[in-house]
Amino acid sequence: KYKGVIFDLDGVITDTAEYHYLAWKKLADELNVYFDRKINENLKGISRIESLEIILKNTDKSFSEEEKHRLADKKNEYYKEMIKEITPKDILPGVLDLIKELKNRGIKMAVASVSKNAKTVLLNLGLIETFDYIVDANKIKNGKPDPEIFLNAAYGIDVEPKLCIGIEDSKAGIEAINRAGMLSIGVGNYETVKEADIVLKDLSDSSAILNLL
Ligand code: G6P
Ligand code: MG
Repeated sequence: KYKGVIFDLDGVITDTAEYHYLAWKKLADELNVYFDRKINENLKGISRIESLEIILKNTDKSFSEEEKHRLADKKNEYYKEMIKEITPKDILPGVLDLIKELKNRGIKMAVASVSKNAKTVLLNLGLIETFDYIVDANKIKNGKPDPEIFLNAAYGIDVEPKLCIGIEDSKAGIEAINRAGMLSIGVGNYETVKEADIVLKDLSDSSAILNLL
């Protein structure tokens, strides 16, 4: 039935969600602003500057727009340092098998990530040529939970949204997939992705997805 699969990147294909967390944590510690993994769950799928705004809700200090941009850049420098080390070994369990099976069955595949580092991560993972289409922050106006990025991806692979499956580890991402009229699959933290049509621990058992096709 389904003809296209659209993958989020960070936290779905590889565990860069952890690196985003560690980079924000380093910045927050330097600023003496309280930040923990629970708050971090709300940052998944959210753009860099919006993420910073959420973190700064926990401080009374005020920052000019220019300072905020400087802080966001600083976090990005920490993050870029971490993703330099990424290799194909960092692809999460089951992802390569799933991709292979989808390809065999002629299913179109896209990546939809709001990260401006998405192409670097895909390159380091050895997956830059794997997908039929990649949409990142440069191609869209509205981030998740707006459905724009998933609709753009469906258009890019030339599959009707209702014939697409979206895979996400973030609350905002699941909402975006649902609003795009696609079937949503949530992976990772249950509380975060519980609005998904189907929730999986991870992609290590790809039969759960292949059985839908
Ligand atoms: C993804 C991640 C977010 C991150 C965002 C922007 O959506 O899930 O945690 O904030 O991308 O990433 P960037 O690499 O552009 O800062
Ligand atoms: Mg993600």
